[in-house]
Amino acid sequence: MPKLLWNLYALCYDAVTRLLPYQEMLDQVVAALEVAPGMRVLDAGCGTGVLAERLAKACPDIELVGVDLSSSMLARARARRAWPASFTFVERDIDSSLAADAAGFDRLASVNVIWTLPDPQGTLAHMTAGLRPGGRMVHTTPRFSFRAHVIVWRHLRGQKGWALARALLGLPVLLFAGLLNLLLVAQSALLARAPRARQRWHEDGLVALLRQAGAEPRPVRPCYAGQGYLIVADRRTPPQEK
Ligand SMILES: C[S@@+](CC[C@H](N)C(=O)[O-])C[C@H]1O[C@@H](n2cnc3c(N)ncnc32)[C@H](O)[C@@H]1O
Repeated sequence: MPKLLWNLYALCYDAVTRLLPYQEMLDQVVAALEVAPGMRVLDAGCGTGVLAERLAKACPDIELVGVDLSSSMLARARARRAWPASFTFVERDIDSSLAADAAGFDRLASVNVIWTLPDPQGTLAHMTAGLRPGGRMVHTTPRFSFRAHVIVWRHLRGQKGWALARALLGLPVLLFAGLLNLLLVAQSALLARAPRARQRWHEDGLVALLRQAGAEPRPVRPCYAGQGYLIVADRRTPPQEK
């Protein structure tokens, strides 16, 4: 069911990623990741490859693995551009992908993925374990009282002339995306495997989830026109044995 919905969502997903607040959020994520040549980076739930594209422009000399369970999202990601040879896209669940990876990652990003996970703490624990020493993760996720119209309004105010006309004509597609979002929220609530899954919607809950997963979160910052949270976490160094 989730796979089917994500495959359907892939048809209109880039209408969402083209919104100004989404673009700004991606810029924030790239800045927070601080990637450097040679780093191994996981884009968990990479969708149509919008973050990977920004990273390819910012620092093509990284090794990037984009993982997503939706074949349609991945088809769009692969077709997005000519990727550097060190960028690969894999159709797989995030948990099993991390469990099968022995090399580890210097950086891990998940953009608007935590809200979809049935057991966010379990997946965050896999993510933390998958970080190399000194590694860092950057996550964004919508807040509980998410107001989509704030994002759309902020986008429209940033458009002029033909761009504004095009944006207005694209509103029905955004409406369709919004309906799919509601279905995804409903299914993620129904399929939640862990009671802690509810915490993913709240600032304090996110910090707690990351701590319980063994990461060291920094203060949560607003993103996505104030409708989302951006959270950076480092892998906690285990206390030294005496
Ligand atoms: C809201 S989209 C975000 C896509 C992308 N990160 C972006 O910034 O545009 C969530 C993505 O996560 C993927 N996804 C959700 N749960 C997943 C899981 N357990 N394993 C792998 N991918 C998952 C979905 O297929 C979808 O492409």
